[in-house]
Amino acid sequence: MDKLSIDGGVSLEGEVRVSGAKNAALPILCAALLTPEPLTLSNIPRLNDVRTMQALLGQMGVKAERGDGTLTLVAATVDWPLAPYEMVKTMRASILALGPLLARCGEARVSLPGGCAIGLRPVDQHVKGLQALGAEIDLDHGYIDAKAKRLVGTTYVFDVVTVTGTENLMMAAALAQGVTTLENAAREPEVADLAECLNAMGARIRGAGSDRIVVEGVAGLHGATYAIMPDRIETGTFLTAAAAAGGEVTLQGARAGTLQAVLDKLAEAGAEVVADADSIRVSRRGALKSVSLRTAPYPAFPTDMQAQLMALMTIADDTAVITETIFENRMMHVQELKRLGADIEVEGGTAIVKGVRRLTAANVMATDLRASACLVIAGLVAEGRTTIDRIYHLDRGYERIEEKLSALGARIRRVSEAGGE
Ligand code: EPU
Repeated sequence: MDKLSIDGGVSLEGEVRVSGAKNAALPILCAALLTPEPLTLSNIPRLNDVRTMQALLGQMGVKAERGDGTLTLVAATVDWPLAPYEMVKTMRASILALGPLLARCGEARVSLPGGCAIGLRPVDQHVKGLQALGAEIDLDHGYIDAKAKRLVGTTYVFDVVTVTGTENLMMAAALAQGVTTLENAAREPEVADLAECLNAMGARIRGAGSDRIVVEGVAGLHGATYAIMPDRIETGTFLTAAAAAGGEVTLQGARAGTLQAVLDKLAEAGAEVVADADSIRVSRRGALKSVSLRTAPYPAFPTDMQAQLMALMTIADDTAVITETIFENRMMHVQELKRLGADIEVEGGTAIVKGVRRLTAANVMATDLRASACLVIAGLVAEGRTTIDRIYHLDRGYERIEEKLSALGARIRRVSEAGGE
């Protein structure tokens, strides 16, 4: 199992290019199930989650071919509308196959994801929404068994705002008969990116990116070429790393409009943030100020940046109150940050972070994807050599993170199980 070794205390300088967004790529890969024609995607990030999704689609009979910076998927036929437990347990986003499979094949069998490290994460909204579209659904031995000759458009009001739930229903509704209106839909930019791709495939979707999405069902979708949006969470992670370590870093290919809440917090904390159409530059020379935040659905502060901002706040000048409202167990990085000398108390979903003068190196363990990113940021500022174990979490969602950080001057390297590099 690989580890990361970081010698902290070096400021970051230079430019880094943002990769394609993991959480846009995963639903868009599933959209390939909706058409027998080729879907050619560019800006696909090279991540373990993307490879897992490709493997899952491959099991269903989808052919994949890598081109020059592109990935073409062809679901000429779907032989096997099944997402087995073995795949779903390694990646919850496998649930995104449910809507497209049902719409394309009239049936689907998808394992229930169950809880994960950050919370219970039920999928009741996916199930209720598909039932509202006319699907018959049985829950059988941990599987969702869904059937529908053809889904029929309706109005569905989500009880909770769910990103993949919205994406699943939007994909299913694209091939339904009649008009579907999704109310209280997730407004995340990745939902809008998926809708744009579906529209390029011939779907008729309006309002994605707002909380009311209207999908006019069509009889069939065709092939398309589509470029995945840049990853706003990777962008935010590098900006936060630069704000923590000091120096000046430019994120090329970043879309500032997709992470305004994060940029605002970084500026409040004392970083200088300058955004233009295609890049964001962040620098920090002075002291860091403590800023409080509360996670909430887009456009508010994203849960996927909570851990990284907490790492930044560990070395700020006062006390920050950080409240997680999306997932009930997304504070596991706190214990690890404490090993590095952070002063943090957790009460329920709230962490009270008292800034300390410095962090000092330790051996820490990554518990989930964004917790890993938080530990990398803390390792970059801690004095001495920090080792982060279980970085397979990081490889799920960050493309070549240690190479990108090294290019900015960080002293970071991957150490493989055998002790080599
Ligand atoms: N929820 C329900 N019922 C449902 C669905 C969700 O109660 O049927 C609850 C969840 O338990 C949670 C809240 O609603 O409390 C929001 O969950 P959501 O469904 O929006 O999360 P998700 O779609 O499973 C996506 C991202 C996550 C990100 C969340 C929140 C993908 C593949 N995953 O998950 O990304 O944290 O939205 O923004 O898009 C990550 O990249 O590290 C990551 C975890």
